[in-house]
Parts: sequence; structure tokens; C-alpha cells
Amino acid sequence: MTQTRVIQPVRQWQGTIVAPGDKSISHRSVMLAGLSERPVRLSNFLYAADCLSTVRCMRALGVKVEKDAEGVLTVSGNGLYGLKEPEDVLDAGNSGTTLRLLSGILGAQPFFSIITGDASLRQRPMGRVVKPLRMMGSQLAGRQDGRNIPMAIGPNPTLKGINYDLPVASAQVKSAILLAGLFADSPTTVSEPHRSRDHTERLLELFGVKVTREGTSVTVQPAQELEAPPAIDIAGDISSAAFWMVAASIVPGSEVTIENVGLNPTRTGILDVLEQMGADLTVLNRRRSGNEDIADILVRSAALKGCEIGGEIMPRLIDEIPILAVAAMFASGKTVISGAEELRVKETDRLHAVALEFGKMGAVIEEKEDGLVIEGGHSLHEATCFAHHDHRIAMSLAIAGSAAQGVTIEGADCVEISYPDFYEVLASFAK
Ligand code: S3P
Repeated sequence: MTQTRVIQPVRQWQGTIVAPGDKSISHRSVMLAGLSERPVRLSNFLYAADCLSTVRCMRALGVKVEKDAEGVLTVSGNGLYGLKEPEDVLDAGNSGTTLRLLSGILGAQPFFSIITGDASLRQRPMGRVVKPLRMMGSQLAGRQDGRNIPMAIGPNPTLKGINYDLPVASAQVKSAILLAGLFADSPTTVSEPHRSRDHTERLLELFGVKVTREGTSVTVQPAQELEAPPAIDIAGDISSAAFWMVAASIVPGSEVTIENVGLNPTRTGILDVLEQMGADLTVLNRRRSGNEDIADILVRSAALKGCEIGGEIMPRLIDEIPILAVAAMFASGKTVISGAEELRVKETDRLHAVALEFGKMGAVIEEKEDGLVIEGGHSLHEATCFAHHDHRIAMSLAIAGSAAQGVTIEGADCVEISYPDFYEVLASFAK
């Protein structure tokens, strides 16, 4: 990931963009389809590096994954108890979702496996997953007593169901426990301080698993087999759409429609905050896709004002903080982001990366232990900035630069992790 890219200013955003397939749903769909007996056709699958890490790992576990057309995969598994021992180390690449969700599944298999990932993933905390999985009976051994990968897993006995209170809301950890719970001898319940994204729960239901929810708790029943739907049409990713929502909001005279945006209520914090900041967003053509709501979103430019972001909403917009920080730089007044310490353990330390890199463009940002304070309204100038090997930092820099005097991004190609076409879409607006 070494490419340097020069982003030119965009005078105005006018037109239509189709949101790419949802990353979280793409990962989960391949995993659950791979645990089914019947083939499942996945359309609008996100063909990006992170999801391809999941595909690679599932193939190594004996699942057949065929690419039929652009964005269309057919996944043929061998049933819930049909995974096979991988011949080599599994590589999750840069993908925390691949690593953590697969750990839940692998920790329930009667065979041995080893999983690792890239330099960023090897730094990221695994103790939060290892602790509950060990309570269920999974055999997991990793660096730093299981706090870091590489990790060796199994062979595992039959797991027992647990009741587990997550100290930090995390869909990845919740999902790992729920997936392990499929293989347990009794129900498993996970409770979170705030509700994180619930795509796993929705997909488990779609695959015929009994899931019950109460407040911020969810219980999964053990299963003998999954009843796969023949096809899943994956919703568009609101986290990718967020870049264009902010781009069109901050460049005067813009009007953009983003089509096919997933509107799962556990993901729509970005809409709530942008509206609070004064953005002009209209939700059109609400419809269903798979077991999720989707819609088209019309965004017109507007004068944004600063706001406070923190607390319960955080899991609903956790990945959108870098681009919301860009919105705040172009808003009048101050934006205070708090309760966002989880950003320090994402693909990079995103609080530090945002303060440092946008500071180079002239943004006025104070880095706090758990957030950022952004003084809006200071005009940004051209600068050379580093993406920190983090796709969302690269895309946020590109949107800020395109709305200001341009930006040169070092390590720009990391967008392939979640949005391989990002620069092509951006270039099509730079007239
Ligand atoms: C994800 C959950 C979030 C998010 C990540 C994807 C998922 O992580 O930041 O990009 O697909 O479950 P946490 O669960 O660690 O908060």
C-alpha cells in the first residue's frame, strides 16, 4: 500500500452514485452460507480486500466460493458441521471482522487451525474475543496469552452456552460469541452496554436460527443445521455512502443521490448527526433488500453547524467518525466528539490519525483521550498527508481535499479494503 495520489478540488457534486455492497453483511453472508448445506447466491457482494479475506479463509476451510459475475458469488458449503481442517495458516489480512467472527466459528471445530493477519491486525486486541470463547470451552492460544494473533485454535470440545456481558459494545465480539453459540449445548446470551450493529442476528434468523432479543441482549439457540435462503441481495454500505453524503453537504451548489443505501437502524447514526448539523438529506424509495431496509438518499449542500457526538449513538456511527470530523471542519462552530476511545484500536489509531493528518491541511483539532474537539470554519490548504494504512482515513482525506484546495495522499491505495472504486467515483466528479 504505497501509492501516492493527488486529489483535485471538486467544484460541485451533481449526479448519482450507487453505494457498494455492505462490508459487514458481505462477510457474514459468506460465513453463514459456507456453514449451510444448500448453495446460496450472494448478489451485490462487496468485492473488496477485506471481504475477499473472508472468502479466502472459507475456501481454505473447504467451502466452494465461485464468482458468477461482477458482485455475484455462489457459496456452497458442507453443512454446519462440514468445515474441514485447513492445510495452512488462515490469513485474515487487514480484516478485524474476518478474524473475530471466524475465531468464534473455529473455536467450535473439532480440528486445529491457526489464524493470523497483517501488521495492523496483529496489533489489534483479541482478548475481548478470547475471554468469552474460552468460557464456552474453546481452546485458543495466541501471543500475549491470547491478546494478539497469530492464534492457534482447537481441537475443541463441545462448547457450553454462556451469559456474557460485553464491557464495550462491539458487533464483532458479539457476533463471535453468537456464532460459537450455534455449536454449544445450551443457549448463549450476549448483553451490550449499547446496541451495536445487528446484521449477524438478522442473518441468523434468515438462516432459520432461533434468535431472541430483549433490550441490548440477544440469545441464540444451538442449531443442528442452517436453513439457507437460495439467495441474498446484499444492501449497500451506509459507511461507504457516508463519504458522498459529507462531500455533497460541504461543497456549495451540490446535489447528489446515493442509491441503494442500507438503513439498518443500528447503522444510521450518521444520518442523525448530519441532520443535527443542518444537512439537507431526503430519504427516497424506502424498500427491503435481504432482511434489511434500504433507500436512496438525496443530499443537497447546506451550511453545517458544529454539534456534540457521544454516548449511546457511538456504536451506530463508529466507522463514520473520520468523515464526520471532515463535516465538522467545514461547519461553523465547535464539534465535540467523546466516548470514541474504540477508535484507537481500529485499523489505525483513528483519533490520532485524524488530528495529525488534517492538522497538516490547517484544520484546528484537539486530540482528547476519548475523542476530538474540532474548531470548524478554518479554511484548509493543500498538503501532503499519510493515510496510515487505513481506508477510512484515506477516503476522509480525499473528501476534505476535494472540497478545499486538493490533497496529496501517501498510501492512498488502502481504499481497496472497503471501496476499490472510490477514486474512480471521485474522479468522475472532478470536472
Ligand atoms: C464491524 C463492527 C465494528 C466496525 C467494523 C465492522 C462488524 O467493529 O468498526 O468496521 O462488521 O461487525 P467493532 O465491533 O469492533 O466495534
